[in-house]
Amino acid sequence: MTGPRRILIADDVLGNRELLAAMLGGLGHDIDTATDGREVLARLSPDTDLLLLDLLMPGMNGLDVMSCLRADARWSDLPVIMVTARESREDRLRAVESGVNDFIAKPVDRAEVLVRVRAQLRMKEAQDELKRSRADLEEAVATRTSELRHALADMQAAEAKTREAHLDTIRRLVLAAELKDSDTSEHIVRISRYSAVLGRALSLPAAEVETGSQAATMHDVGKIGIPSAILRKRGPLTADERDLMQTHAVIGAHILAGSSSELMQAGERIAISHHEKWDGTGYPHGLAGDAIPLWGRICAVVDVFDALTSRRPYRQPLSDAAALDMMRQDRGRHFDPHVFDVFAAHLDEIRAARPEPAAAANHSVPDSAPLPSSPAHSHSAPPVLVGGPHPCVDTV
Ligand SMILES: [Fe+2]
Repeated sequence: MTGPRRILIADDVLGNRELLAAMLGGLGHDIDTATDGREVLARLSPDTDLLLLDLLMPGMNGLDVMSCLRADARWSDLPVIMVTARESREDRLRAVESGVNDFIAKPVDRAEVLVRVRAQLRMKEAQDELKRSRADLEEAVATRTSELRHALADMQAAEAKTREAHLDTIRRLVLAAELKDSDTSEHIVRISRYSAVLGRALSLPAAEVETGSQAATMHDVGKIGIPSAILRKRGPLTADERDLMQTHAVIGAHILAGSSSELMQAGERIAISHHEKWDGTGYPHGLAGDAIPLWGRICAVVDVFDALTSRRPYRQPLSDAAALDMMRQDRGRHFDPHVFDVFAAHLDEIRAARPEPAAAANHSVPDSAPLPSSPAHSHSAPPVLVGGPHPCVDTV
């Protein structure tokens, strides 16, 4: 046992207090005394290691004191030895029920006192050690948890930064391609938003919608490899120019190929497939039906819709309803019929997702700019070809 301990002796008889104090003080312990129950409660301190408690005292007796101690978290496990001259079975049972740890009978025997006190002090020492270990452990756990929280927050911040840098790189790559044949970047913003609306309307998982809608912005990244003279040509394309224009799907897939990024991989699938047609007459591979990646089919619908409803130097934009009517004739030919139907059924949400056009985004439209031709058209002569070479609408 380490060092002197603090012992409180409570007895209303001065002689009893002095006798016990002499016995225990002689061992080097720090002794304090109380004459009744109220004084016991007043003199207890966090340093008290043991209470020797007389059962019969005026005012609060020993059992009353015990009920107060065990109801108080500060003293609920303080070792208590009850000192009593009455040793009836009932007295002992009541004392045990009150939470007393041991008994010493009056008149006290020195040897018995020392043995019982030593046993309780050892128990208290073990309790204190356990409390210290628990406190140390809790502190270590709290410190480690805090460190882990900070590390996790740092990691999440770094991941967010990396992802944002990744997306920023993609946006700039897409913008570089987009600005080759357009004066604004609004098209890619609308494609992303429309794709997200359509993906959700198709009940695709949220993570897939996020990736797909971001990746859809890369559908025409291959235009970076097409000469500006062809991209911006106002008149009809020659057969050679059309063939060259169509290589943008393969060029885009080539640019995006071989990445470990899920986003880049999705972008590659969309770039290579967004000009495929449901009936197999598209390019570059002539895929048909479900063989065309789903996000390629989604991009085909939103890309054509956006092109039809956007102003071009050579024509006015179509209304949403007119564009949809025109596209409906290609349902099951150009467009996946289910994807198109879901798109048409959610036109209000598509409209709501459309960003406000920037003032600078409006192209000037010559007075002579022709309107799109009649909806009646064939695959070999799509309806919106009039005067414009847009690679996604004109299906060149
Ligand atoms: Fe395209």
